[in-house]
Amino acid sequence: MKWIKIFNSKNEADTALTEGKPVKVRIGSKELCLTRFKDEYFVTGNNCPHQMEKLSKGTVNYAGEIICPLHFYRFDLKTGRECQGRTEDLATYTVKANEEGLFVFC
Ligand code: FES
Repeated sequence: MKWIKIFNSKNEADTALTEGKPVKVRIGSKELCLTRFKDEYFVTGNNCPHQMEKLSKGTVNYAGEIICPLHFYRFDLKTGRECQGRTEDLATYTVKANEEGLFVFC
C-alpha cells in the first residue's frame, strides 16, 4: 500500500467534486468511491458488500452515510459500518490533503 495522488490540490478537488455526490475512482485494479462531505474527503470501496451495486451511483445523507441505490443499506463514510449491521463493513481508506495534493492510502 502507498499514498496515491488523486488531485493536485484540495482546491482542485473542491472544484471537481460536488458535496455529497460520490464518484468512482479507479486506482490500478481497485475501483473506489470518493465522496466529499462537509469539507472532508472519504474513500471507500465502490462495490456494496451486500450485492455489489456501485456505491458511486448512491447518495449521501445528512449523517455522513453513503446509501446504496439498490436496497438502500447505509454505510458510515468514516468506519464503513452498515447502520444496522445487515452486511459486512465497507472497505475504507485513509485520505490526506496537503499543499501537494489530495492523496489516498491504498
Ligand atoms: S446491493 Fe447494496 S444494499 Fe443491496
